[in-house]
Amino acid sequence: MKKWFALLLTMMLMLALAAGCGARSEQTTKKEGSSEGKTEATDDKPIVIKFSHVVAENTPKGQAAEMFKELAEKYTNGKVEVQVFPNSQLYTDEDVLAAIQQNNVQMAAPATSVVTTLFPEWTIFDFPFVFEDVEAVQAAMESEEIGGKLFNMLKEQKLLGLAMWDNGFKHMHYSGKALVKPEDFKGKKFRVMSSKVLEEQFKAVGANPVPMPFGEVYSALEQGVIDGGENTLSNIYSKKMHEVSKSLTLSSHGYLGYAVITNAEFWEGLPADVREQVEKALDETTQWVRENGEKMNKEELEKIKKENPDLEIVELTEEQKKAWMEAFDVVYKDFEDVVGKDLIDAVMKLRKQ
Ligand code: SIN
Repeated sequence: MKKWFALLLTMMLMLALAAGCGARSEQTTKKEGSSEGKTEATDDKPIVIKFSHVVAENTPKGQAAEMFKELAEKYTNGKVEVQVFPNSQLYTDEDVLAAIQQNNVQMAAPATSVVTTLFPEWTIFDFPFVFEDVEAVQAAMESEEIGGKLFNMLKEQKLLGLAMWDNGFKHMHYSGKALVKPEDFKGKKFRVMSSKVLEEQFKAVGANPVPMPFGEVYSALEQGVIDGGENTLSNIYSKKMHEVSKSLTLSSHGYLGYAVITNAEFWEGLPADVREQVEKALDETTQWVRENGEKMNKEELEKIKKENPDLEIVELTEEQKKAWMEAFDVVYKDFEDVVGKDLIDAVMKLRKQ
């Protein structure tokens, strides 16, 4: 009997110890997680928001991140410190969503194409020629049916969508004569972001898509690993892709924009007054990008022309565009189940023609 009692006592002691360790390790994990983005500002230590992105500072997103930093720090009287890491210094777009989920960075603005790796419905933004202009994208994001639905699903994975930042429309840069007809793509290698729709778009015209992080595109072009790619003029210019290309087709065939995303727990844990001011900073920044993204892209075209006068620049005629649309059309059918007919229909309703 005594033996049984001693055994029982030992087991209870072990259980109590194990529970204690569990509780401690949970506490440690929480502390480690929050040390990156702690949510209490003290006099000498502000709340740090690490903001990671992959582009250069002289782009719409690069400028917006800097503006957000300046305004957030000003409006919170230094209770918040925003540390901006451009040019994939911390994470590539491919890694950044996991980094936010782990609270290793608190904010990022990955291209919507990258969000598709977790939420395939977001591929709607990659559909070729789906938006006629940036205003249509903005209207889509403001509608409950489209933007509301897309932002809501982020919560399922510890993420919170805060805003949508525009860059603009993508064009084709290429190492040969300008791409004008769908047949011109045949057999060539084009870099794409991590998005199945973008892969399919190039396959539809007989080309080979090569998924690759943004930071590797310049050297891949220089070394001939790829023949070309698609991007906005500000991204092409800031990463000097025009220097290692022979032609540029102004096709505006696809849209590039960004989902400004944070870690939901981090954001909700911010003191209410601080969060309010940070949101104000973000709203003003979003407004600025809306007004200036397209303008910046236009200005970059002039700089591209000046810096590489040998670059063949061709703007597609309406008829040529129509031929591209028809060639890419297969994407709509193939991805209807992935994106959902409702979402596609809602976006198509925004078309003027
Ligand atoms: C970006 O604009 O953030 C990157 C776009 C790309 O990967 O081409």
